[in-house]
Amino acid sequence: MATGSHQTNRLDEVLARYSAARTNLVQILREVQEPEGWIRPEAITTIAQAVQLPRARVEGVAGFYSFLHLAPAGRYRVRFSDNIIDRMAGSLPLLERLCAQLWIERGKVSEDHLVSVDTTSCTGMGDQAPALLVNGWAIPKLTEQRIDHIAGLIRDMVPVENWPAEVFAIDDNICRRDIILASSLQPGDAIRATMLRGRSDSPESASNPRSWREGLDVAEQGPAATLDEIKRSKLRGRGGAGFTTGLKWEACRNARAAQRYVVCNADEGEPGTFKDRVLLARYADLVFEGMTVAAYAVGATKGFLYLRGEYRHLLAPLQQVLARRRSAGLLGHGICGKADFEFDIDIHLGAGAYVCGEESALIESLEGKRGVPRNRPPYPVTSGYLKFPTIVNNVETFCAAALIALKGGDWYASIGTPRSTGTKILSVSGDCARPGIYEYPFGVTVTQVLHDCGAEFTQAVQVSGPSGICIDASEFGRRIAFEDLPTAGAFMVFDESRDLFEVARNFAHFFAHESCGFCTPCRVGTALLRNLMDKLAAGKGSQHDLNQIGELNLLLQASSHCGLGHTACNPVLDTLKRFRPAYESRLVSMQYEPAFDLDGALARARAMTGRDDAGAHFGEAE
Ligand SMILES: Cc1cc2nc3c(=O)[nH]c(=O)nc-3n(C[C@H](O)[C@H](O)[C@H](O)COP(=O)(O)O)c2cc1C
Ligand code: SF4
Repeated sequence: MATGSHQTNRLDEVLARYSAARTNLVQILREVQEPEGWIRPEAITTIAQAVQLPRARVEGVAGFYSFLHLAPAGRYRVRFSDNIIDRMAGSLPLLERLCAQLWIERGKVSEDHLVSVDTTSCTGMGDQAPALLVNGWAIPKLTEQRIDHIAGLIRDMVPVENWPAEVFAIDDNICRRDIILASSLQPGDAIRATMLRGRSDSPESASNPRSWREGLDVAEQGPAATLDEIKRSKLRGRGGAGFTTGLKWEACRNARAAQRYVVCNADEGEPGTFKDRVLLARYADLVFEGMTVAAYAVGATKGFLYLRGEYRHLLAPLQQVLARRRSAGLLGHGICGKADFEFDIDIHLGAGAYVCGEESALIESLEGKRGVPRNRPPYPVTSGYLKFPTIVNNVETFCAAALIALKGGDWYASIGTPRSTGTKILSVSGDCARPGIYEYPFGVTVTQVLHDCGAEFTQAVQVSGPSGICIDASEFGRRIAFEDLPTAGAFMVFDESRDLFEVARNFAHFFAHESCGFCTPCRVGTALLRNLMDKLAAGKGSQHDLNQIGELNLLLQASSHCGLGHTACNPVLDTLKRFRPAYESRLVSMQYEPAFDLDGALARARAMTGRDDAGAHFGEAE
């Protein structure tokens, strides 16, 4: 077992490597924690002195993130993914089996400080559930045999780095390819194409890749032409809010500043979403290419990829891709031979906080702080990372941008629907024969997706995760599109055997757990909602409790600080509206109060907030 002095030695090395910069505080804490699984008080003191922050601030940052520990948490820290999909695949009996084999109680550290076993929010493995993390490393496709194997490795105290590689094998499960997943873009293609964009009359135009691969031998069009193509494509962000990418980039470019930043949001914390995991594992060049195109368009010299802690396994491969791109002249100074084009990318690893997917919270985290969403305005495009203009885009958005740079905005706009151009990658999980990622032109019906993934007797689909919408069979003719069913990607299938109340209860627990606690309405409201659902589950609820849910929604809609609070009641309201018997069958008594008017409550929420999208997915202005 590593000792305290081991941590001290590592501390000096880590601090030196990160130049003891405050902006790297989360990275420093994460790395210092690695040998022992927790951060000693004396390490916090040394770090505080080195980064010149009050000790309480450093402790406050460490205390914010689920994966950072200020007390011993076990040499082996096992966390089962607790999404409803994992539960449906049998995660809880497997958790109990592991606890029994290791003679420990869930949520507690064993007396010898060897191991702890608990749950965590969705780890992004819905296509190969149930899954767990051990010391941050993902293990999917759990079975009783695999659990017994893991228990043996822990009992024999085999260091995690020496566990057999097959334990950690993760499938990509690409089930349907379209323009992104079928692309054969070579590193540098999109960057060179975008520099030459606009000469469609020329034989040297971007439609002739061979010539521009050889160098910038034709007139360069510049960032304005790149921006123009992105605007013509009508690309909208794939992270949930659906803001127009071209407008975002233009606002950033137009903001007066000495420096600008490009940030890729790879936090992918929405339960049921895992398409960014596959894009980063298999299409990293496309992602980095898109970021580099964005840097060219907005005039940025520095970029960050914010990778969720649950995707720790992707860190080293992604760093290798970055290194390869640097040696190929696709990052660094003089990119693609253009002397004044400089751009490079760093990867920051998150430490377990869903709210850090919200772009301003993500920027706070990138700056080494607690991931609390900022007051907006100002928006990141004018005041983002270190108060400099910053664009934050989803992984998939950058992939689409790279293809647009290569093939043009008009080409892209011809795919999909007029208001939702291009394609959307769905993360399909739950009750279907072929879970995995599916790329479709926008406008595909839910029925088509259900058919393709081999779903039968489907009762409901949760589109876009807990913060999205739950639809029943009468709505399967609806289309995946911003104008109908917008989605960040999750597509969770529930067949007729499933209890939709339990689905909503799982999501209520998720929001209560992930509320960052900054604002009282969300901190208290999400906890009240969770407690109400537990009360109903225990068969102790009444109509009064159902009515309370409508009131809670009003409170959360009107006074929450960010999208997490705004959407926290969605899953309960949706299922209450469509699957009311699942709730009513649990009531002790129904005669005391009239049922609340759900549509009226939503209308009041809209009137109170002035937001048409109150009760809709994220719906944040940017
Ligand atoms: C609570 C919360 C969590 C979010 N999580 C993510 C996420 O994991 N990935 C993501 O791309 N966007 C997420 N978003 C949306 C981001 O704030 C932002 O809109 C997005 O990264 C912008 O990129 P886009 O324009 O390419 O969609 C989240 C928003 C909220 C309110
Ligand atoms: S709404 Fe919730 S998650 Fe968002 S800032 Fe407030 S407490 Fe934090």
